[in-house]
Amino acid sequence: MVNKITVVGAGNVGATAAQRVAEKELARTVVMVDVAEGIPQGKALDQWQSAPIEGFDSRVIGTNVYDETADSDVVIITAGIARKPGMSRDDLLNTNAGIVRSVSQEIAKSSPEAIVIVVSNPLDVMCYVAKEATGFPRERVIGMAGVLDTARYRAFLAEAIDVSVEDIQAMVLGGHGDTMVPLVSYTTVSGIPITQLLAQDKLDAIVDRARNGGAEIVKHLKSGSAYYAPSAGAVQMAEAIVKDKKRILPCSAWLEGEYGMSGLYLGVPVKLGRRGMEQIIEVTLTADERAALEKSADAVREPMKVVAR
Ligand code: LAC
Repeated sequence: MVNKITVVGAGNVGATAAQRVAEKELARTVVMVDVAEGIPQGKALDQWQSAPIEGFDSRVIGTNVYDETADSDVVIITAGIARKPGMSRDDLLNTNAGIVRSVSQEIAKSSPEAIVIVVSNPLDVMCYVAKEATGFPRERVIGMAGVLDTARYRAFLAEAIDVSVEDIQAMVLGGHGDTMVPLVSYTTVSGIPITQLLAQDKLDAIVDRARNGGAEIVKHLKSGSAYYAPSAGAVQMAEAIVKDKKRILPCSAWLEGEYGMSGLYLGVPVKLGRRGMEQIIEVTLTADERAALEKSADAVREPMKVVAR
């Protein structure tokens, strides 16, 4: 258990993440900070009152200022607006860049040693904004997208072959958008290559559904986007960090030559431990997967130009 984890944003993703962090007792204190007066305070109090029932001793507090977030070990940034039907994640760019920039500056002042997990969209570009605004090294600014995209892919596969979700190993790389790259060549069921268990046309349909997994939920909800699985993804990363688990998870990381690319955030396999992003693992890709990753990188570079200063 670390001393403090802060969640920025008390909306659906933020509040659900705070509750998950508390239930897992990842930190002594869980702070939810949001500009909306009363919302973080009310939600935090409600969550803290669930502690005697759920049996956790992590104290949850809500605030509108950063004083109470001081010296956080991990900060999860969920602040920003969410998609509505018909919107792409890139449509959120200008609004969320301003929000993520200002909260990142506050974090840099109040928690200069924190490891930052970015969840706000468009994810890969918001990671870049957070890295620039905090001035933190790349090891301490990482994005949550691959864990979510992979979880969707794994859930659909488990359903299709009728096996436990726990036995599906997979990795979705690339940007968190329509160009994401599910690695079929690294998808196994307890070590058995997925192609031995599922016909190609079924696999193709699942890859496609996973790619559009976020939009499918926005279409149902109409008034917002997914939050149960996104918050679970962010908290799995936080857990790997605070417990120094050295988990290998697909995360958005700042590339400095890995996969032959530099100067952008992109989803790649990362080792997560107490120092944050401890290593980027370079795996061999098929020619098609490599081409898809390059295309995905282009789709991240384009919106990055808009926020680059
Ligand atoms: C999604 C949003 C959170 O993929 O990006 O559901």
